[in-house]
Amino acid sequence: MGLPVHTLYGIGVGPGDPELLTLKAARILKEVGVIYAASSSDNDYSIAYEIIRPHIQEKTDFPPDKGGLRGVEVCRLSFPMTRDKAALEQAWTANASEVLTALKTMNAAFVTLGDPLTYSTFSYLLNTMNALETDVSFRVEIIPGVTSYNAAACRSMIPLVSGEECLFVTSGALGGAKLQEIAHVADTIVMLKAYRYFNHIYDTLEALNLLDHAVLISRCGMEGEQVVTNLRQLKGQKLPYLSLLLIKRP
Ligand SMILES: C[S@@+](CC[C@H](N)C(=O)[O-])C[C@H]1O[C@@H](n2cnc3c(N)ncnc32)[C@H](O)[C@@H]1O
Repeated sequence: MGLPVHTLYGIGVGPGDPELLTLKAARILKEVGVIYAASSSDNDYSIAYEIIRPHIQEKTDFPPDKGGLRGVEVCRLSFPMTRDKAALEQAWTANASEVLTALKTMNAAFVTLGDPLTYSTFSYLLNTMNALETDVSFRVEIIPGVTSYNAAACRSMIPLVSGEECLFVTSGALGGAKLQEIAHVADTIVMLKAYRYFNHIYDTLEALNLLDHAVLISRCGMEGEQVVTNLRQLKGQKLPYLSLLLIKRP
């Protein structure tokens, strides 16, 4: 008889409010043997982990007869905050190997902010696992999560699309250049990762006459949430990492 085949669940935990975790995700998190969460090796902190914390019973180091909990194990997969491709690949290979080792004996979950197939580290993990030469067979199941921009649209009460309108989702990680390409065809633009090059994005919006049609939402559903409808008050400011823009063409 062959070895049992275990499942890796890629779980979207929603954008921040623990109540936006799906029922399915909450159930699976209680059933798996181990939960992995990505964290930066600089600060060892995972936002996805903080979101699931109220939903799980974490295993402690103490044996149950000494007051320890028979909960689920939570492991942090660290990856360096760098653009150095070699260093990143090395980290993802080590992380992928760790998950493969766990899948020999148990089901595992990888939790990720928002939705697992929307600008998510889950794709990197899965691609690396599939590329590694291994004799471990595993199944994959992906559980969708509420995206940051769905939550942000609800918070700011901006309809994403209606009728025949079209929506573009893009990243601002390299600045505002993408906006120029899509501003004329999109009715609504969602720009994630708007924090680092916000000043460049701001200038691009101004040049496109879209500054008064954009709303910035930071830390949606979390402590310190901000919904800013007058972008001019943000000029020159540093934004939190969890910031996105909703732009609705007039
Ligand atoms: C690596 S992407 C993750 C996207 C996520 N998978 C999703 O489905 O929304 C990180 C970016 O998502 C956006 N984001 C995630 N959570 C957010 C929140 N609670 N409030 C505002 N923006 C958020 C920010 O633009 C942030 O820079």
